[in-house]
Amino acid sequence: MRQKLEQLKSDFTSAIEQISSEEALEALRVEYLGRRGKLGELLSGLKDLSAEDKKEIGPFANQIKQELEAGFARKHAELMQELAGEKAQSEWIDITAPGIEPVNGNLHLTTQAIQEVVSIFNQLGFIRVRHPEIDWDYYAFESLNMPKDHAARDEWETFFIADGNKVMEGEKGKVVLTPHTSNGQVREIEKGYLPIRMMNINKTYRRQSDVTHVPMFHQFEGLLIDKGVTIAQLKGVFDFFVKRFFGPEREVRLRPHHFRFTEPSFELDISCNLCGGSAKIAGKKCRMCKQGWLELGGAGMVHPNVLHAGGLDPKEYNGFAFGWGVERTLMMKSGMNIDDIRILYKNDLRFLKQF
Ligand code: PHE
Repeated sequence: MRQKLEQLKSDFTSAIEQISSEEALEALRVEYLGRRGKLGELLSGLKDLSAEDKKEIGPFANQIKQELEAGFARKHAELMQELAGEKAQSEWIDITAPGIEPVNGNLHLTTQAIQEVVSIFNQLGFIRVRHPEIDWDYYAFESLNMPKDHAARDEWETFFIADGNKVMEGEKGKVVLTPHTSNGQVREIEKGYLPIRMMNINKTYRRQSDVTHVPMFHQFEGLLIDKGVTIAQLKGVFDFFVKRFFGPEREVRLRPHHFRFTEPSFELDISCNLCGGSAKIAGKKCRMCKQGWLELGGAGMVHPNVLHAGGLDPKEYNGFAFGWGVERTLMMKSGMNIDDIRILYKNDLRFLKQF
């Protein structure tokens, strides 16, 4: 019996040396150590031995069994290591190689301009808000001192939502795509917080399209309401903005104008960047401005009727408002050289990636 066990062990030792795969190793394990394996078969003969022999062979058989199991464990670990080594060879990664740089997008030119406008007005305490881009006639016109059928409305070539008043029931008239951000004026006053320093920036819509107009554009609307506000303060705010946005050498001027919702009303001009405000370049008329000034946008002292509409007493409170196109303001920046506003919204990456 002892001999047989020793023979089994030496057979096993030479067999396991030939093994080079996990499957073969498993087959060998079953052959020797399995339930009907060679070892088990031998050990089933134990019961026929004398008590004395049992005492001697028992522990020996146990030792052989343990040696076989240890042999398997060793071989298994060896195989696993070989496999990992092969993988490491075939799946080698150079962790020092530079990565693939992801494509970096950039903000649209208009968005960049909006952020710049906001950051400049923030310094004066104007906080950005957003009022609806689709709104009732009441906020876009009527509350701004433009009654129904008033001729002044014609200037805002307005898109109406078909059956808008059926969709949104209300006393506030038809529903329009806001043609200007001034719809935020009475809405802001209605909030009931005073004083007001609002910066309303939104999309606006008018039925227009040429080199200086697109049907969808952006406006920014400033509104300041307080006690004893003056035109000098209005001009000071413009000056602050223009010098920071366009450059310290640029000048501003107010030119009398007419809006229904401001009184007095102005149009705001800035000195031309091409001729420096002189209207002449090398003795010839400046082709950009022809007169030294470029029109920026509208402004004025808030009309008493607008204050009334928002629930304020014009004897107690007053203020100023201004509103311009973001795109137009952007195009007037020195060195911009955009001669057709429509390029901003053509989604031509060759153009957009430059900024
Ligand atoms: N809303 C006017 C426009 O779109 C501009 C404006 C705003 C004028 C505020 C005066 C006060 O032309």
